Amino acid sequence: MSSILSRSLRTCTTLPRSIAPRPSFLAAPRLGQWQGLRQASPVGVRFLSEQPRLRLGSIAPNFTAQTTHGEMNFHDHIGNSWAILFSHPADFTPVCTTELGAFAKLKDEFDARGVKMIGLSANDLTSHSTWINDINDIANTQVQFPIIADAERKIAYLYDMLSEEDVKRVQTNPKEIAFTIRSVFIIDPAKKIRLTMLYPASTGRNTAEVLRVIDALQSADRNGVATPVDWSVGEDVIVPPSVGVEDARKKFGDVRVVRDYLRYVKV
Ligand code: BEZ
Repeated sequence: MSSILSRSLRTCTTLPRSIAPRPSFLAAPRLGQWQGLRQASPVGVRFLSEQPRLRLGSIAPNFTAQTTHGEMNFHDHIGNSWAILFSHPADFTPVCTTELGAFAKLKDEFDARGVKMIGLSANDLTSHSTWINDINDIANTQVQFPIIADAERKIAYLYDMLSEEDVKRVQTNPKEIAFTIRSVFIIDPAKKIRLTMLYPASTGRNTAEVLRVIDALQSADRNGVATPVDWSVGEDVIVPPSVGVEDARKKFGDVRVVRDYLRYVKV
């Protein structure tokens, strides 16, 4: 985030709505804009000390939260599906609006891969509902997945969806609150974190890349293979180093050997 932009966003978290300057990148103020930010309490310092390590392969921390689809127990909601949890800095922000519209349009693609979508934005439910109507209108879609109301940033802290800069600022001044960044967690049916992506607030995510990495993870699980650079479904995959060439032939048929350590097969 540019320093000018981040400064104007921060100002909105600390001043009453009536006197807070409008972020310059938003032309028309909307009902509910930033309302969650004004309501948020300074939970950051407290939650920081309770933050678990979120390594790949670790169990995604469970939580209960209010969402646009009612109260959610995260693990129960995932059930036997895969899940994608993706965070947004705030409701009624332009980049987030484009992202949620795009994810909503891809519902069938996520369904086809057995992946439940779960959004998170650091505002309350009233704001989320109004924003969803707007997203549906702008993107000509229907947001059908739940969006977590995380006005207090409890889940943002639990999942470390914050920048170093903001966390430090909150530690210095607990009256301020930290902005969530754009985090993506891809979680498997065993509730393990399988992949994370972290984007700054100023950079919208790439939905095609999200679907591509889900395909790669699921192909790796299904076939016991790895995927090369820029791989997409239908392209050759890589035999992992732990599998000998004869075993690979038995399992996959033809093996294209480029080097002893670089072997391709079709799945
Ligand atoms: C947004 O448009 O979503 C956004 C951009 C910069 C900072 C925060 C949010």
